[in-house]
Amino acid sequence: MSEDLPDGVERRAFDGTDRLATRGEPVYGEPTDGEWRAWNPNRSKLGAMLELGMDTGLEGGETVLYLGAASGTTVSHVADFAGPTYAVEFAARPTRDLLEAAESRPRLFPLLKDARKPETYAHVVESDVDVLIQDVATRGQARVALENRRFLADDGRLLLAVKARSEDVTREPTAVFEDVREELEEGYEIVETERLETYHADHLGIIAQPR
Ligand SMILES: C[S@@+](CC[C@H](N)C(=O)[O-])C[C@H]1O[C@@H](n2cnc3c(N)ncnc32)[C@H](O)[C@@H]1O
Repeated sequence: MSEDLPDGVERRAFDGTDRLATRGEPVYGEPTDGEWRAWNPNRSKLGAMLELGMDTGLEGGETVLYLGAASGTTVSHVADFAGPTYAVEFAARPTRDLLEAAESRPRLFPLLKDARKPETYAHVVESDVDVLIQDVATRGQARVALENRRFLADDGRLLLAVKARSEDVTREPTAVFEDVREELEEGYEIVETERLETYHADHLGIIAQPR
């Protein structure tokens, strides 16, 4: 359990259980306590990475590019404590909920875009973002991270959740993770990896810095 949490993220008691929490309007039916909302690590890979004490380097207030925002479960928590947060999602349906989550979050900018085509949002997203967070659960996860490296500041960080089954349902997750790591190393130096198993089956959390 890490106590090294970003500003704006706290461990608070909800119904007698200590849970991570951020301050903002609820988004996915999560329990609230005044203006605080519980952050469910079973619904969020980044939440799991924080729960597992991975060294995300998040301090609060940073500029974030988030790939695979879906309906905003995780990115809404991020926008509660970060600075400008650009949220890319290519499916129209979840984006509607994402737009709703953004209504009360002036720093959250939903973008209905394909993360494999960064040139389509390069005019909107500022360069030199501090943190690239990726949870796209699609084939080619390393490639997506490499293609979006262009947005990351030299001293920025990649916080990546890799879903083995999205790459190949038939292969051993360990073998898939090895390939993803190797491909990522074309553009990143890997700082830390950890299986997110406690919260998400067959997922690997990776923290990396651009080379
Ligand atoms: C596992 S879900 C993301 C959950 C979300 N990160 C959260 O924690 O709230 C993966 C999402 O990535 C999106 N996605 C997959 N490939 C994408 C791509 N190339 N560009 C943008 N979004 C993509 C899917 O539509 C899906 O909503």
